[in-house]
Amino acid sequence: MKNIDNYVPKTLEDYNRLYSESVINPETFWEKIAETFLWKKKWNNVLSFDFNKPEFKWFEGASLNITENCLDRHLAYIPEQTAILFEPNDPNQKSEKISYRELHRRVCVFANVLKSKNIRKGDRVCIYMPMVPELTVAVLACARIGAVHSVVFAGFSSTALAARINDSECKVLLTADGSFRGSKVIDLKSIVDEALLKCDSIKSTIVLKRIASDVKMNNNETWWHNEIEDVSDYCEAEEMDSEDMLFILYTSGSTGKPKGMVHSCGGYMIYSSYTFLNVFQYKTNDIYWCTADIGWITGHSYIVYGPLLAGATSVMFEGVPSYPDYSRFWNIVEKHKITHFYTAPTAIRALAKHPISLVKSNDLSSLKVLGTVGEPINEEAWNWYNKNIGKSKCPIVDTWWQTETGGIMLTSLAGVTNDKPTYATKPMIGIQPVLLDKGGKEIKEKEKEGILAIKYPWPSIARTIYGNHDRYKNVYFTAYPGYYFPGDGALTDSEGNYRITGRVDDVVIVSGHNLGTAPIEDAINLHENVVESAVVGYPHDIKGNALRAFVILLDENSNIDMKKEIKEQISKTIGPIAKPEIIQIVPGLPKTRSGKIMRRILRKIASGEKENFGDISTLLNPEIVKQILIKS
Ligand code: PRX
Repeated sequence: MKNIDNYVPKTLEDYNRLYSESVINPETFWEKIAETFLWKKKWNNVLSFDFNKPEFKWFEGASLNITENCLDRHLAYIPEQTAILFEPNDPNQKSEKISYRELHRRVCVFANVLKSKNIRKGDRVCIYMPMVPELTVAVLACARIGAVHSVVFAGFSSTALAARINDSECKVLLTADGSFRGSKVIDLKSIVDEALLKCDSIKSTIVLKRIASDVKMNNNETWWHNEIEDVSDYCEAEEMDSEDMLFILYTSGSTGKPKGMVHSCGGYMIYSSYTFLNVFQYKTNDIYWCTADIGWITGHSYIVYGPLLAGATSVMFEGVPSYPDYSRFWNIVEKHKITHFYTAPTAIRALAKHPISLVKSNDLSSLKVLGTVGEPINEEAWNWYNKNIGKSKCPIVDTWWQTETGGIMLTSLAGVTNDKPTYATKPMIGIQPVLLDKGGKEIKEKEKEGILAIKYPWPSIARTIYGNHDRYKNVYFTAYPGYYFPGDGALTDSEGNYRITGRVDDVVIVSGHNLGTAPIEDAINLHENVVESAVVGYPHDIKGNALRAFVILLDENSNIDMKKEIKEQISKTIGPIAKPEIIQIVPGLPKTRSGKIMRRILRKIASGEKENFGDISTLLNPEIVKQILIKS
């Protein structure tokens, strides 16, 4: 097997050379990268694709199992190295170091447990768990036997969980009795109980005892610790076709129900691993910490798969940055001598608001590389991060990508290519971004703004939306035929560095979470006293963006506290992360003559604009703008 390190750039010249190779002859390039992995059978063809269908097939005819690459492959030479370093919510509890050998053992045991529940290749398994090592074990155990994991972030409500379970008809649910988040103890089991009332496809539920609460176990529900007793730790890895499904991960869209993005085995393996090594420049003995939750794509690709494929030590943190106080992240950096720290701008902004003594009291000298993900980082936050955390000596990789892309697409490579505040900078090797004008024509000049699109496939592009290929085509491949359209705008500087300007659709990134406004409106409209609502995003100091809901009520004089009820309704339907910052009761919404809500105007109002609304004379009800403003 060839060594992947030979293809990881160490200098700017290396990057330029490898980048050229990857776009001049992508198939030869990716074939070389693929040869550094363990395959059960080699491919007949590297890539076939059609942007119109759309269809992407990487390494057709090849077979593999990703867990052999994450685990078995490392057993020969780094069996005792820590794979997962677990830091619990409570700083007084011991952290746990799980070696590659031990992780392999636990994964094989749990894979056998899943088999005993009749789970076979292709079956879907829902995972709704806190950030504890068993979550990683669950993910990899599914992959070991070819089951498709669908991890649902454990902050989602019972309705959201049920919708996701039902959409992909999961057969088994893996969960916990509860979770610790800062000073709160969250009763996951009762959320699960409520969800399962609406889920016929679940045949068994396995519950991890995390908070040791006295929960009621229903039929077909068993305890994790009982299930793993006396189970063999030998489990042959299932032979998976390169294009077989590895996982489904739901992301919200600008309309209706969440989209179950489907990722496949071969391409995702190669891209998550190669990007991890390129972007972070991870070296043996480094301690890498990504603060995301495995319920999001960042956790999938850069806590679990990318680092483990690279034989790295990946930190999993159960808690929150504010517990027991706002120095927790920096305590952890000192305690575990973290070398790589990857977080979201919203966390940086929140931490920067607290006394700098909370940072200074910790030794951060182990840090070599910093990263950000999930939303644009403003210059002030970038400078704070660079000066106070990186001590002006750590490169900062600002990584732009999506659930749909599976891995990082635009970024600097730590210490190899230049970073620039607020710019995601350059394409990852193998990625061909372009800016399009509104008519869909490529903008060739630099220092221009446009719609970001990608004009050539990469190995980990999502293959479809589970059960809805038409929607996949409509959302990503129809507006600009021949390109992948991510839904973001961008601009370039004179050197061709990219800066993301934000979403160009009705998705708002709040605290780094991708939230479609339509599902939130649907949730609000469920309330019997609501006639109609519109939700828009507006700039917010810490969260990046916040949501403001404009709501028309049936009875404005009713005694109930509608703002409170609306928030509860949203928490129940989606989850607390989707609660608007501001709810404004309005007499009407600005509409076009065809009845479409003019969100552009609402966005301006939400951003504090008082008079500059452009031409509103074509509205059906121009007077409403004033009325909304008076009340705001
Ligand atoms: O708008 C972009 C924003 O997050 C969106 C993707 O969200 P999600 O699928 O939840 O994945 C988040 C983690 C990869 C993008 O369409 N986004 C992500 N990273 C950045 C970003 N916006 C600006 N800069 C980034 N570095």
